[in-house]
Amino acid sequence: MRVDPLRIDDNVIGEAARLIGAGELVAFPTETVYGLGADALRAEAAAKIYAAKGRPSDNPLIVHIAEFDDLARVANDVPPQAKILADAFWPGPLTMILNKKREVPDATTGGLDTVAVRMPNHPVALELIRKSGCLIAAPSANASGRPSPTEAAHVRQDLYGRIAMILDGGAVGIGIESTIVDLTEEVPMILRPGYITRELLADALGREVVTDPGILADDDAKRPKAPGMKYRHYAPKARLSIVEGPEGAVIAKINGLAENARREGKKAAVIATDETADAYEADAVLSIGSRLDDATIARRLYRILRECDELQVSEIYSESFQTPNLGTAIMNRLLKAAGHTVIRVCEAEE
Ligand code: TXA
Ligand code: MG
Repeated sequence: MRVDPLRIDDNVIGEAARLIGAGELVAFPTETVYGLGADALRAEAAAKIYAAKGRPSDNPLIVHIAEFDDLARVANDVPPQAKILADAFWPGPLTMILNKKREVPDATTGGLDTVAVRMPNHPVALELIRKSGCLIAAPSANASGRPSPTEAAHVRQDLYGRIAMILDGGAVGIGIESTIVDLTEEVPMILRPGYITRELLADALGREVVTDPGILADDDAKRPKAPGMKYRHYAPKARLSIVEGPEGAVIAKINGLAENARREGKKAAVIATDETADAYEADAVLSIGSRLDDATIARRLYRILRECDELQVSEIYSESFQTPNLGTAIMNRLLKAAGHTVIRVCEAEE
């Protein structure tokens, strides 16, 4: 069902809210990616999410709230740091991990004694939560292992026939999932990088914020603390390689790889930027956005991975996007999609 975020149709949101209240699944837009919602405090409702997505049951869900006071309904204690971060970033792309209340079922938290909570910054999401009278557990609304959905059409591709309703509020603004910060650690710890950077969190809190060492490792030696970060997520069907180095060397290397692929009878796609797209020759050259504004890169990342699937290429060569602001968050997703396949080139190879 289409719903205009600026003029929300009461009948449409009313029906979606009724379905949530009845324990059904509704996909809805947030500012980050589309979510697949169910009543967070009802185990049977939350359990349906895992079945629809094909999601491992040990991977906990994020509880979405519309009022700060609702935090106390799911969190055992609300530390001052949570209030500070909520004042600074909610509603917005930040999820906080806190100790959970008993009322939150194991189905929602994957059996953990902590709970993930976020207040999304999207009028449709907020209205759905308020109208349903529920707190809404929602993972990204993709089939497990597929890129997260940034448009309603992506949800439809993955989940049609498996869920009660999709609210189509148009393409999302941010395009990558929320930053997750764990406030149960002695030092606040980022479990998943996102639009709210470590620097922004540290500034707001006036103290050091660390990043989970388990997500920085490029092997399986250290386990990430967020269960979802250990899976090979966001995987396109083709083999994805990231080529890193000075711009000229990267372009030369990727063109060489694409040429080799062509000679072997394989179809290849290149993920480039507005600044470099013209320099490539391949079966498909896709521009992900502009390096001058890395929010454009984050916004198109998942869409591009889905486009590569539709093009039915067998090889994807991508530039690396270690941009100053969102580079950490973007590369976290891209490296996972590539299974950490990185080809490093230097000027000499040009
Ligand atoms: O932007 C977002 O956060 C989107 C939108 C829909 O809000 N949601 C989202 O949910 O990305 P999902 O399920 O795709 O990712 C949730 C992540 C997973 O990596 C999960 O393991 C982690 O959060 N998580 C949830 N509860 C946790 C907990 N108690 N402790 C550690 N990690 C947790
Ligand atoms: Mg997800």
